[in-house]
Amino acid sequence: MHTQPWLLIPALFLAVQLILRLSRAVLSPLKDIPGPFWTRFTSLWYFSRVRHGQFEQDNIKLHRQYGAIVRIAPNQYSIDDISAIKTIYGPGSQFAKSAWYDGWKHPQQWTLFADRDIKRHADTRKQFANLYSMSSLVHYEAFVDHCAGLFMQRLGDFADKKQSFNLGRWFQCYAFDVIGNITFGERFGFLDRGEDIDGAIDAVHRVLMYSTMVGIYPEWHPRLFGLLSKFKWSGASGRAYIAKFVREKIRNHETNKIEDEAVETIKTQNFLEKLILAREKNPAKVTDYHLFIMAQTNVAAGSDTTAISLSAIMWHLLQNRDSLNKLRAEIDEFAARGNGSLTFKDSQDMPYFQAVMKEALRMHSATGLPMWRVVPAGGAQLGGRFFSEGTVVGANTWVAHYDERVFPNARAFRPERWLEAEAEPERLKEMNQMYMPFGLGSRICIGKHVSILEMSKLIPRLLQDFEFTPLRTTWSTQNYWFVKPTDFEVQVKRRTNELST
Ligand code: HEM
Repeated sequence: MHTQPWLLIPALFLAVQLILRLSRAVLSPLKDIPGPFWTRFTSLWYFSRVRHGQFEQDNIKLHRQYGAIVRIAPNQYSIDDISAIKTIYGPGSQFAKSAWYDGWKHPQQWTLFADRDIKRHADTRKQFANLYSMSSLVHYEAFVDHCAGLFMQRLGDFADKKQSFNLGRWFQCYAFDVIGNITFGERFGFLDRGEDIDGAIDAVHRVLMYSTMVGIYPEWHPRLFGLLSKFKWSGASGRAYIAKFVREKIRNHETNKIEDEAVETIKTQNFLEKLILAREKNPAKVTDYHLFIMAQTNVAAGSDTTAISLSAIMWHLLQNRDSLNKLRAEIDEFAARGNGSLTFKDSQDMPYFQAVMKEALRMHSATGLPMWRVVPAGGAQLGGRFFSEGTVVGANTWVAHYDERVFPNARAFRPERWLEAEAEPERLKEMNQMYMPFGLGSRICIGKHVSILEMSKLIPRLLQDFEFTPLRTTWSTQNYWFVKPTDFEVQVKRRTNELST
């Protein structure tokens, strides 16, 4: 029997691949670093585990089984070591984001979040940091208040109808509407009916799935992106949808010219207005592309993350009634001082509320995959091992947050741990070094203050006015970079009604 000659080409290709992978695995100076068997030869193991949607749990188990450094794929290592984390992400770090982040942008464009160019990233970040600063929050507060008010109305409707609902889904509606309002001065409109109007929430979700998976084989991204953009169901078309949406909003703003002086004296000023003014002042530095990319990043990076964190806070409070009661007592005490209402400043001054937020985001961080970085020129010493230039390393927030050495009894929700640690500065320092729900160092979340504003404006009001009953004691989540709860069903009652009956 003769072998078909055309079969020889793929066979040869496979043979070369096999030899290459085997020799790399055998010759690697890091070959003794433990990990699942197949990770020595292929990224497929990582791909299939991520595809499964529970990688934050897989990653914790891997470290419990194998120790502080675990191989995830050839030349790729997950790290759970406090000093290594400092080296990788700390100030002045030269560890650039890895090629996994390429999947998070259009192949021909760059964005702040996905930028792998350290210099360009630093310049862009410096240029726009002010838009996300504490002093800019004053301009965004009214946008948040408006959405929080609508959210409270919708909850009132559910209470009156005695209807259960998915609180996680409604937090998404809130967070998307807030980010639309802050960025464009216009809500998406999700809070009106809880519906994903025009499929924007779904579009972002498809981007998450696509980018998470394609980033594992980043060389495929430029090849797949154009092709998949043609299909409505794909993540690539989700990105095109968001881009179109953002361009339309910018066009609308451009036609309503903003008067510089007028805007500076008014109380609210949305993100786009700020950007347009910045471009008018310095067109050489602030370009049309900056307007587009910064606004688009807000929608993609700032909505689901905040919604997940709101869910995390409420979920853990509802499963831990003692903490809930303690927090309510604090809220009531502060509200009594302010004739029933609470300001953002009040929420900042509430020690227990601050500890609750911190603990909830420790237990359930919005992102659940390692934040991959590339070892820079000259290599690096990490966790007692030398990693040569080009090796991909990363820490997963969930692994750090469930490290029993730093957070004893890590699976217990104990806001008190943060308050108790205040008496032991060294311990608190260590906890803070391992606490990274917003990332770390030069790539730390630029929207952190905005999201804290959104959460601080909503949670106390919810607890003041409503009594929540969760319909289950465990919830399901799906991790495609963002660890989303899928079935956070609750019932609500008005607290005032309850007291009067
Ligand atoms: C509770 C809500 C939020 C959480 C938990 C969160 C989490 C994170 C994390 C972990 C990173 C770092 C990712 C990495 O290093 O790979 C990040 C970066 C980023 N986040 Fe957030 N985020 C939140 C809200 C927001 C909001 C509201 C915005 C925008 C208004 C935003 C915009 C960004 C941007 C632009 C980056 C990239 C920063 C850079 O690379 O310099 N995020 N976020």
